[in-house]
Amino acid sequence: MGLKLNINGAEREVRADPDTPLLFVLREELKLKGAKLGCGLEQCGACHVLADGVSVPSCVAPAGSFEGKKIVTVEGLSENEIGRRVQEAFVKAGAAQCGYCTAGLVIGATALLTEMPHPDREAAKAALNPHLCRCGAHPRVLKAVEMAARR
Ligand code: FES
Repeated sequence: MGLKLNINGAEREVRADPDTPLLFVLREELKLKGAKLGCGLEQCGACHVLADGVSVPSCVAPAGSFEGKKIVTVEGLSENEIGRRVQEAFVKAGAAQCGYCTAGLVIGATALLTEMPHPDREAAKAALNPHLCRCGAHPRVLKAVEMAARR
């Protein structure tokens, strides 16, 4: 019997071994390519998804550990009012350079604004600390978070 995962509001049955890291199930079996493989060590944030509203890395944790949770990837964020706002603010603020880390940052910012609708800059920095951006887009990312929080 396959592994059942709730992803972006739909129940999905997947063939992958439950020990496979969730990121590989998303990208390879389900063709959801938004979450990226960066470090593969839960150190960079590129692979973050929401699990029951919490921003978590998906590159190490086995897919089986996500059974019974509501997983949202960046592809499903447009169904979420806050996620939609965050995405629009990232575009308006130009909060990306190469874009590799962007999906993870958008997920992280959505989790932050869901938990704390009007974070100050220090709270935003702390919440997004797990997300590395080697292009240095963090100032624009923080601006996007402020823009999304104001609306
Ligand atoms: Fe998962 Fe870097 S790829 S945290």
